Formats: sequence, C-alpha cells, structure tokens
Amino acid sequence: MGKAVKLSEFLQSNTNIELASVLVSLAEGCKIIARLVNNAGLSDIIGTTGDTNVQGETVQKLDDLSNKILMDYLRASETCAGYLSEENEGVVTLNTGGKYIISVDPLDGSSNIDVCAPIGTIFNICERLTKAGEEVNNDDFFQKGTTTKAGGYAIYGSSTIVVLSTGNGVNGFTYGAEENDFFLSHPNMTMPEKGKIYSLNQGNAAKFDESVQNFIAYCTVVDKETSRPYSLRYIGSMVGDLHRNLIKGGIFVYPANKGEKKGKLRLLYECIPMSYLTEQAGGKASDGHQRILDIQPVELHERTAIFIGSKNLVDKAEEFLRG
Ligand code: AHG
Ligand code: MN
Ligand code: MN
Repeated sequence: MGKAVKLSEFLQSNTNIELASVLVSLAEGCKIIARLVNNAGLSDIIGTTGDTNVQGETVQKLDDLSNKILMDYLRASETCAGYLSEENEGVVTLNTGGKYIISVDPLDGSSNIDVCAPIGTIFNICERLTKAGEEVNNDDFFQKGTTTKAGGYAIYGSSTIVVLSTGNGVNGFTYGAEENDFFLSHPNMTMPEKGKIYSLNQGNAAKFDESVQNFIAYCTVVDKETSRPYSLRYIGSMVGDLHRNLIKGGIFVYPANKGEKKGKLRLLYECIPMSYLTEQAGGKASDGHQRILDIQPVELHERTAIFIGSKNLVDKAEEFLRG
C-alpha cells in the first residue's frame, strides 16, 4: 500500500491553518489517551477517583486524566480560545487570542474502561462569538449544531481511529504506533442508507414511551422483505455503537424515558458532534421530532433524546413517534 496521508497533511489541504492547529493538538492528546487506555491494567488508572462530576456521575480516573491531557494539549494550540467538558462545571478560557471553542467528552463509555470494551473521545468545534482578547463565556458554546466547523471522535478499540469532518464529508485516520501518527485509512466514510442493526439499552424498555416500544417491536418482527428482525447490538459506549453503525448501517437510540425526561446523552459534546458527523456521512439525527443540529442549546450540560444513524431507520422511528 502506498504511503498513506498523515492526518496533519490531510488537514493542511482540507481546512484553514487555525482549525488544523486545534485538530492536530487534539489528536496529539488522543495519542496519549490511547496509550493510557492500552496499558490501563498496568498503571493505577483503572477505577474511580471517588469524586462525582457535575452530572452527578462517578468520575473514573481515566475521565479525569483524559480531561486534563486534552486541556493541556489544546492550551498549547494558540488558536483554541475556550474549552467545555463533561468533566468541568463551567467553560474554561485556554487562549484569549484563539479563534475557536471546543466542546469535549474526554472519555465516552467510561463504564467500559475496566472491561476492555471500546471507549472514545468526542469533540465539536465552533468559531468563538466573543472577541479575540476576551475571556470566553457560555454564549460562545450555546451555538446550534448548524454552526459546527469540525466534529468527530477518537475510538480506542481494537485499533485507535480518529473519525472527523470539517464540512466536506467524513474521513477516518488510524493510529500507527511505529510512526506514532494517524494515517488516512477510511477515506470518504458514508453511512449505509438502509440499516439492519438497532442499538439501545433494551433493559430500559419498560421506561420508554409506548411509541418507542412500538418501534422496538417493529425492529423485532419477522418480515423477510424488509430483512427483519434486525440485530440488536449495544456496547454501552456511544462512540463504539456509532462507529459500528457508521460502517455497517443501523440506528442508535437513547430516548427520553420515565427516569430521564430528556434522555441521558448530552447535547453539546455527545449529540451535536455525532449528529454533525452522521449528517456529513449521509445519515440522519433527530430527537425523534426535530433535527439535533437545529436545537438551540441553553445549558452547558443539557441532555436530549437522540435517534441517529441510517436514514431509513431514523425515518421509521420518527413515524412511530408521530403516532
Ligand atoms: P460517558 O461515559 O461519557 O458518561 O458516556 C456514557 C454514555 C454513552 O457512551 C452510552 O451510549 C450511554 O452512556 C450508555 O448509557 P446506559 O448505560 O444507560 O445504557
Ligand atoms: Mn459520553
Ligand atoms: Mn465521558
């Protein structure tokens, strides 16, 4: 195979130098996280810090470490002005002269760290609204997904892959340990229009609205013509479930439910970046009624229901939710 294009080279010819600087710094941080993940059992980073984060969730040591690593690496890129993270209560100014702000889930799927299942980092980048020279504030981050300039994820699985879009389609870059760099391995990724996989925590079914239960029943009916029953696949890491669906097709659902009125997943650093990427790959993402990218954020850590993946399946789910 000829020499694959490096992530940094790809970005130089596909985006502006300031955005490339943020993305390269982020990727450098993901390299460190990948190394920690791959050696988790050998260093004292398994388990919890004993704290709970702003979400009221137990913080895994690797959540905390990943958050600190990404803040350090992004601070080193002068073009990144501000940082929002699942692990921080408020927004943080990194470089008052920066042009971009970034919302990050430093480590997605934390419950899977100890069992060696795929986990990841999710990120969404917008241009700041405050002026250069000022501190960033919440308004910089309360931007609809339609203003996203770059978004994607790193998946730490059987290999480490950065999958991202800067607005012209989706490309995947696999980490090569020998060269300690990311190389283009998945050019022009497109979400299969028809999917045969549905991905949700069926254990919560009794808490779902009847319309969602009816959609699940639809997925499990035997009907040769529409290749049903679909297969249920659920890793419990949004990054792992979405990466599989991006390659094989399918729908991922985390609906509102009796225990979680607006679902569990966070709008700014899980649902918007994953919806931006999915749309760039030709898929669809809604909260069951409206496009995720059209939702106006009003709180840093707000949650939303999400139905995301192959267009035919998201359309079908929305049909059930319309009743
Ligand atoms: P995080 O580890 O960043 O808190 O995210 C976990 C999320 C997401 O990755 C996954 O899809 C979902 O939690 C799984 O939730 P359940 O365990 O409730 O199914
Ligand atoms: Mn997450
Ligand atoms: Mn997380």
